[in-house]
Amino acid sequence: MGVDGLRGSSPIEKNRRVITVRILIACEFSGVVRDAFIERGHDAVSCDLLPTDRAGPHIEGDVLEYVDLEDRWDMMIAHPPCTHLAVSGARWFKDKVEEQKDAIAFFMSLVNAPIPRICVENPISIMSTRYRKPDQIIQPWQYGHGEVKATCLWLKGLPKLEPTNIVEGREARVHKMPPGPDRWKKRSITFQGIADAMADQWGRAKMGDR
Ligand SMILES: C[S@@+](CC[C@H](N)C(=O)[O-])C[C@H]1O[C@@H](n2cnc3c(N)ncnc32)[C@H](O)[C@@H]1O
Repeated sequence: MGVDGLRGSSPIEKNRRVITVRILIACEFSGVVRDAFIERGHDAVSCDLLPTDRAGPHIEGDVLEYVDLEDRWDMMIAHPPCTHLAVSGARWFKDKVEEQKDAIAFFMSLVNAPIPRICVENPISIMSTRYRKPDQIIQPWQYGHGEVKATCLWLKGLPKLEPTNIVEGREARVHKMPPGPDRWKKRSITFQGIADAMADQWGRAKMGDR
């Protein structure tokens, strides 16, 4: 999809309280969060340098070219790369000073995008000190997946995400995935339960007039 395909959705029907959220899912190739919003009737578009793994509205390109389209987006959920930010990679930081500077600048461009409601997601990372502490730290086991993977959310104009289904398992399965060319991709895909919670809870967040 190019800029021509970004016209936007039909008007909101305020009297019937039918609100279509126009949402950009930044840095998403999987389509998981995008499709969770679409299934609930919203106008969601994913954007990544990579093609989308499953068919749906997707921009293949640099998301920074699309964040400031005038009055196009009500909300953005962003999953910027964490390779040079996550504290789990701290031992390599000294060899990657320039890459880390670029990663911080990219993260900050997303946080500061001119969109009224924003969630930027990352693992435990240096952004807690370079920017600020996250608004919340969630876990897959709070959303129906018996796994441990601390995920920080920095929020603007959005309420905290409430847990939907707390389950018993506490396995770090993603960390134990066997090596392979697609390992990073598999590890980075958003958990379905978290995507559903975002679409259920933030798809209903009051949008106000626009
Ligand atoms: C940690 S992964 C997030 C994956 C996501 N959770 C999903 O389910 O697809 C980060 C993604 O950011 C993408 N990315 C990096 N720089 C980007 C840019 N300037 N514009 C758009 N996407 C970018 C990468 O290609 C990568 O797929």
